[in-house]
Amino acid sequence: MPADWEGLRAVVKDCRQCKLCQTRTQTVFGVGIETAPLMVVGEGPGADEDAQGEPFVGRAGKLLDEMLKAIGHSRRENTYIANVVKCRPPGNRDPETDEVESCRPYLEQQIRLVKPKLIVGLGRIAAQRLLNTDAPLSRLRGPLYHYGPEQTPLLITYHPAYLLRSPREKAKSWEDLKKVHRYLRTGSLT
Ligand code: URA
Repeated sequence: MPADWEGLRAVVKDCRQCKLCQTRTQTVFGVGIETAPLMVVGEGPGADEDAQGEPFVGRAGKLLDEMLKAIGHSRRENTYIANVVKCRPPGNRDPETDEVESCRPYLEQQIRLVKPKLIVGLGRIAAQRLLNTDAPLSRLRGPLYHYGPEQTPLLITYHPAYLLRSPREKAKSWEDLKKVHRYLRTGSLT
């Protein structure tokens, strides 16, 4: 695994480790500040991301940007954004476990390079794959977890695409965002 951003970006760009390479337009590596205190991890590229090569640029991305802005964060200033898979699953199906596992070393290297204070996992698929569980999202929100070899602090919240479909959950999402903000400020959830 390349030890620097340039090498990692080059390897991901030409990756053929899983079948998603056959249907992608391009890989979607990640975007934002490479030393950010906050790293956001989504599920995988959709059609807009596959076309543009950047994560969260469609409608859900606009909402994600608003959510981040509400706690003083943005991809241009202090946040890094990536996905558990770097290639679009065809027809926007969920990424399969083998696809996530093929891609996991890339995400883990991104985490190692960013060294965030906190990772926020967005939505059921990212949460289940990061935590290696089949529990529903409602059970995964709440506690502070620790992810991977570096044991990076991890919180789970709703995916913005879900919030677009279920705007009533925005209140709970806001509670989560306040927790994210508090943790980044104080290093504690309380
Ligand atoms: N949804 C995701 O999970 N990731 C993206 O990059 C875009 C939409």
